[in-house]
Amino acid sequence: MLLHIPQVLSRDEVNHCRTLLADAQWADGKVTAGSQAEKRKNNYQLPEESAAAKELQKIVLDALGRSALFFSAALPKKIFPPLFNCYTGEANAFGNHVDNAVRTHRATGTHVRTDLSFTLFFCDPNEYEGGELVIEDTFGHQQVKLPAGDLVLYPSSSVHRVEPVTQGARIACFTWLESMVRETERRRLLFEMDAAIVKLRQNSGDTEDAVRFTSCYHNLLRMWANT
Ligand code: NI
Repeated sequence: MLLHIPQVLSRDEVNHCRTLLADAQWADGKVTAGSQAEKRKNNYQLPEESAAAKELQKIVLDALGRSALFFSAALPKKIFPPLFNCYTGEANAFGNHVDNAVRTHRATGTHVRTDLSFTLFFCDPNEYEGGELVIEDTFGHQQVKLPAGDLVLYPSSSVHRVEPVTQGARIACFTWLESMVRETERRRLLFEMDAAIVKLRQNSGDTEDAVRFTSCYHNLLRMWANT
């Protein structure tokens, strides 16, 4: 499942992040790539332990914590500390690759199984040419280029790439997460069910049926969640 979540960050938050990013010291993006992806990765990345990265991580994680849609779709158990990248000039693309199945956070030694990846855009599509995130999966090819503040959530198992940025700069946040529900189909079923419950409650209030339906959702989650 590929999901577009609009306005994860407000305009004010995007502007604040852009100010921080404008003053940040970028490094070669190869530092977090595996040996195969490294050959295809040509971009800039903020050093993970830099003050700017820390401040930006907090803003992004707080915003994710507010998003009911993100929680419902991802059912996150562990989120790898978000990373920030920039594609511009000569460092402008990341060829087809698959993300490592497990990421280990250097500072804490924590392992995160990468069930889902996301990209959160800081630049609007009209600020740069190219730079589409292309995701290849069982659903075919999807090209993604979203407004600043919007996020795309997609399976980490997919082969994906970032097309060359031929003009301007594409700045984004990305990371991986381990879900409480590892199986994609179960996660999808819970997501669909949650959306139906929200609609039912909006249309009819907390009727007896809505309570029963909600109980089914939670009992399925209780059966499948690995916390
Ligand atoms: Ni990747």
